[in-house]
Amino acid sequence: MQKLIIDGGLPLNGETEIQTAKNAALPIIAACILTDEPVTIENCPHLNDIDAMLNIMRHLGCTAEFFGDNLTVCCRDVALNVINSDLTGKLRSSIFILGSILSRCRRAYISHPGGCEIGLRPIDLHISGLKGLSVKIVDDCGVICCDGTDMKSGVINLDFASVGATENLMMAGALLDGETVIVNAAREPEIVDLAEFINAMGGDVRGAGGSVISIRGVKKLHGCAYTPMPDRICAGTVLAAVNATGGSVTVKNVVPDHIFGITERLKKAGARLSVRGNAVRITADARPRPIHKLETNVYPAFPTDMQPQFCAMLARASGSSVIVENLFENRFGYTSELVKMGASITVKDRIAVVNGVSSLHGATLKACDLRGGAALVIAALAAEGRSVVYGVEHIDRGYECIERTFAELGGAIHRAEV
Ligand code: UD1
Repeated sequence: MQKLIIDGGLPLNGETEIQTAKNAALPIIAACILTDEPVTIENCPHLNDIDAMLNIMRHLGCTAEFFGDNLTVCCRDVALNVINSDLTGKLRSSIFILGSILSRCRRAYISHPGGCEIGLRPIDLHISGLKGLSVKIVDDCGVICCDGTDMKSGVINLDFASVGATENLMMAGALLDGETVIVNAAREPEIVDLAEFINAMGGDVRGAGGSVISIRGVKKLHGCAYTPMPDRICAGTVLAAVNATGGSVTVKNVVPDHIFGITERLKKAGARLSVRGNAVRITADARPRPIHKLETNVYPAFPTDMQPQFCAMLARASGSSVIVENLFENRFGYTSELVKMGASITVKDRIAVVNGVSSLHGATLKACDLRGGAALVIAALAAEGRSVVYGVEHIDRGYECIERTFAELGGAIHRAEV
């Protein structure tokens, strides 16, 4: 068990390079099952969630090995082992693997991923989508048993533009005869990245990034080397931290279009931003300004995965902000930790009212989920005095060595054993 020790109050300055995206790499790793040839994922981030996905892949008989930052995955043979709850419990998005196993093997067995800290996370859209491709699915005491013997392509209308369900169906259709069409597909950049990866393996996916995606199945996919897109949430996390602490930082390896919803809100919160190629520079020299209403929604709106980090930033704003969380029903759990630091936040259902205070003070804090944990780190960097953040394993799910990123920018932050 480890903790982060943070002495707050220092501005952040310098430049930092953003890792590749966890949420792009996870479905890409799952999609490696679609080919029996080796795939190299270049610059794959070293994260707990990636390890959890690789353990599932190994459980299915695939090999997966890092050579430096490059990950090589080979699924020459896929064993139809039940993916049990020990494995799915470590990674809520383990359900994303269903589509690729079914596409390759026409059968799959996976334990229900269950709920998680930020909400129930039902999988009804994944299940109904696969049923729309004629997969027979029964729940046998918590194990989802899928029989895709009669699987065929078709048109799937998603009731909600779920990221994971869209990705699952793209993988499910990749090796099916004929054309699979997803209507009301999610439009997140990670969907486009998965489509480009499948196409790099010889697949035929069109329309990703729009609401209708067409997948023409091919007989066989081949191995390739692929670099996932930059992590837009990690970029947003650094930018929010700089606006909370003050300073001036150049964030490299970003796709500015991907973070437009974030940078526009940072401007509202008083930051100055400029874009040059794939780098964004932020300068913040005053207390953040409040944001009258900050509402999360599907891409290209403001992402739910940035909501906690913005709340931490707005805790020190020069006025009141209202945050509305539209995607997950229980994503304000971290706010009680911010209150320990002197923040004034009231939560009712999916709305938080953040009355900015002039300063936060250090405290002993516990991270209970990934992005909530990042919010605590931001608040601690901006606070006066020392904070200790426990529950670092949650933060390690999505940030490659978060303390190194902020220490290199001048933050007083280090990791220690508990
Ligand atoms: C992905 C991201 C996650 C992000 C989320 C929303 C990955 C690995 N994770 O998660 O970081 O927060 O998108 O941008 O890419 N829903 C249902 N039924 C379903 C599926 C989803 O009701 O079958 C609901 C969820 O409970 C949630 C909403 O739809 O309220 C959004 O979920 P979804 O877009 O599926 O998110 P994930 O793919 O799980």
